[in-house]
Formats: sequence, C-alpha cells, structure tokens
Amino acid sequence: MLQLSFSAGCKSGCTIFGCCIFAVAPSYGKETAGCAGRLFYRDGVIRSGRWEGRKIGMSGKTREEAWELVKEYNKEPFHRQHALTVEGCMRYFARTLGYGAEEDFWGLVGLLHDLDYEKFPEQHCRKEAEILKEKGWDDKLIHAVASHGWPRCSDVEPTLEMEKVLYTVDELSGLIGAAALMRPSRSVQDMEVKSLKKKFKDKHFAAGCSRDVIEQGAAMLGWDMNKVFQESILAMRSCEESVRKAMEAEG
Ligand SMILES: [Fe+2]
Ligand SMILES: [Fe+2]
Repeated sequence: MLQLSFSAGCKSGCTIFGCCIFAVAPSYGKETAGCAGRLFYRDGVIRSGRWEGRKIGMSGKTREEAWELVKEYNKEPFHRQHALTVEGCMRYFARTLGYGAEEDFWGLVGLLHDLDYEKFPEQHCRKEAEILKEKGWDDKLIHAVASHGWPRCSDVEPTLEMEKVLYTVDELSGLIGAAALMRPSRSVQDMEVKSLKKKFKDKHFAAGCSRDVIEQGAAMLGWDMNKVFQESILAMRSCEESVRKAMEAEG
C-alpha cells in the first residue's frame, strides 16, 4: 500500500517515493512521479485527495465527460470522427515520444481541440477556451487546444511538444483520412509514405488541408517531412479501427 508522508524537505512539503522529484505543475513533461502543491502523482495517476485515481492534468475530469461535451457541441458525424481520430493520434504520439504517463491527457487535448468549431466557426479556438474554462477544465488543456489555431484564429502559440504535435497532426490527419478514402481498401493500413507525399504535393487534393500549416508544424517539431508523414500514418493506423467502432457505436 502506498504510504504518504508529509515533512519538510521540498518546496511542496512532501516526501514521497523516497524523494520529491519535482515541485512543478505535473502533467507537461516526461517526469512520471512527483508532487505539485498537495497533488501527489505517479505514472500519471493522482494518488491522494479527492481526485485519487484520476489522471493528472485533467482537473478531476474524465474522458467520458470530454466525449459527452464533444457530442453536445458537435452533431455532425464528420466532426465527431475527426475529434476521435485526433485523440487517437495524440495518444499514439504520447506513447512513442516518451510521454506515456500523459497519454490520457494528450488524448483529451486531441478530443477537445475543435469543440467549438461546428457551433462557433467564427470564434474557433476562442469560444472553446471560454467554454472549457467555465466548465473547470485545466488551464494547460485550454492553452493546448487554443494553440492549434495559431496564428489564424488564436494568439496562443504552440510551445510544448504536445502542442506542436497537435498543430501538425490535426491538419495532416485530415489529408491522410481523405487519401485513405481514395484507396481500394478505404484504409490507412496499407498506405505508404510515397503515396501520401503525392497527395501532399497535389494542391487540388483535399485543398482544405493546409500544407503550409503542416510544414510549419514539422519545422516547430524539428522533424523532416518524411518523419512527419511516416509517424502520422502510423498514428492513424493505430486508431483507425477503434475510431470506426466508436462511430458505429454512436449510430
Ligand atoms: Fe481547429
Ligand atoms: Fe481539427
């Protein structure tokens, strides 16, 4: 059984797991254990207080609450599917980039990133920040979702690796999804980088997916385009089936 002890020795007044590793806001680095104020967490899970068992960075919220919110504001199946796809991609990148303890949080950022787009397209990114704040969501989550519209509809610049991944994969997942529908398999499972590159270069194909944004995102991440294409295809493959099932379940 996990024992908590409170004593002098760190800025937040705790000793846990033998030492207090970090006294910073917990959910935005690769650290897997530490404390922030009176919040103790390990492997991304809060270990004390009224949010015990919940994931860090989620203000005590759950994925189910986020999905209900997405459905409340988004009636179009396409928008719901996009939210689920970006969620799945973000989860993939959290795992593969060494942020496994934050996988749920990265997923939530993906799930909620276009919350306001269907109802408030003219206020995209700004309105969702308002809605999420009012409902008590974490400031870091609000920063992350708002940053994907920078600088077109938001003045919040992506700074964290998570935000740069969202910025890039949001746009590219649309292109990959459209390219998959053109394939005999109608799937990304047999899509290769070479064919995606062709679609990327064809400016008339899925013209709404901004190539500039994707390239800008790649530059922010410091990744070459081959890596962006390859990793994003793998991310889409990882969640294609679960997204399909979730959409079927919604009818
Ligand atoms: Fe958006
Ligand atoms: Fe989006």
